[in-house]
Amino acid sequence: MSVAKKEVKRVTTHVLQAMKDNGEKISMLTAYDYSTARILDEAKIDILLVGDSASNVMAGHETTLPITLDQMIYHASSVIRAIKRCLVVVDLPFGSYQGNSRKALASAIRIMKESGAHTVKMEGGEEIADSISRVLSAGIPVMGHLGLTPQSIYKFGTYTVRAKEEAEAEKLIEDAQLLEKLGCYAIVLEKIPAQLAKKVAKTVRIPVIGIGAGRHVDGQVLVTHDLLGITKDFNPRFLRRYLDLFSEIKDAVEQYINDVKTSDFPNEKEQY
Ligand code: KIV
Repeated sequence: MSVAKKEVKRVTTHVLQAMKDNGEKISMLTAYDYSTARILDEAKIDILLVGDSASNVMAGHETTLPITLDQMIYHASSVIRAIKRCLVVVDLPFGSYQGNSRKALASAIRIMKESGAHTVKMEGGEEIADSISRVLSAGIPVMGHLGLTPQSIYKFGTYTVRAKEEAEAEKLIEDAQLLEKLGCYAIVLEKIPAQLAKKVAKTVRIPVIGIGAGRHVDGQVLVTHDLLGITKDFNPRFLRRYLDLFSEIKDAVEQYINDVKTSDFPNEKEQY
């Protein structure tokens, strides 16, 4: 029996590679806090991403750009305290690695040392190759991220599907090959045509994890708040909602407010 099909006690980058080699799909979700991470880890998610999407879903910013390294470390530490089995990857936030490989290494070391995270993720290809190489040289595993890279939203101008044109698609394939050559252990592909994602997953040996990149890749990632229906106004085609927690929580809170106002809560049994 293969490594990946056995009951995995601890997901590592090697386990993920074995999963790809054996055709076993990889599951990945975001987490930013202790309580949620504990549930997702107990459910046996393979990878938890402490994404800079915390900037949107936790802090209410319009983009991922404002979140700081200190804030990412805070979220990552909370997640790490909760988990026993999954691999934890943490986004290096905007401004902590681009254009300066020494700064990139210092940022990655802070995340690893201060949060106890297992790996980091960085957005971009050839333009950040120096930063990726330097982080890898310290023994820190790096997950790449290509396609719609939200830290570059002001360059793109919109959140629409990337790499529909041939030139951008070719550059994306070259970047994926470069990330593999540099030594990244996996790549996230965000919001690109499914056929292009399929080609990338076939071209590189390392696992390719998609979000809005179709089914012909090695795994899938979603933002947990989207999957659970806590976020409301974000409805891209690629999103499958498994719950409508926004409504369920609102109903429960309305019930609580009513119980307080009518002196139904607490009752005789709920007091000392
Ligand atoms: O920050 C994030 O949530 C991400 C995912 C969308 C892959 O990078």
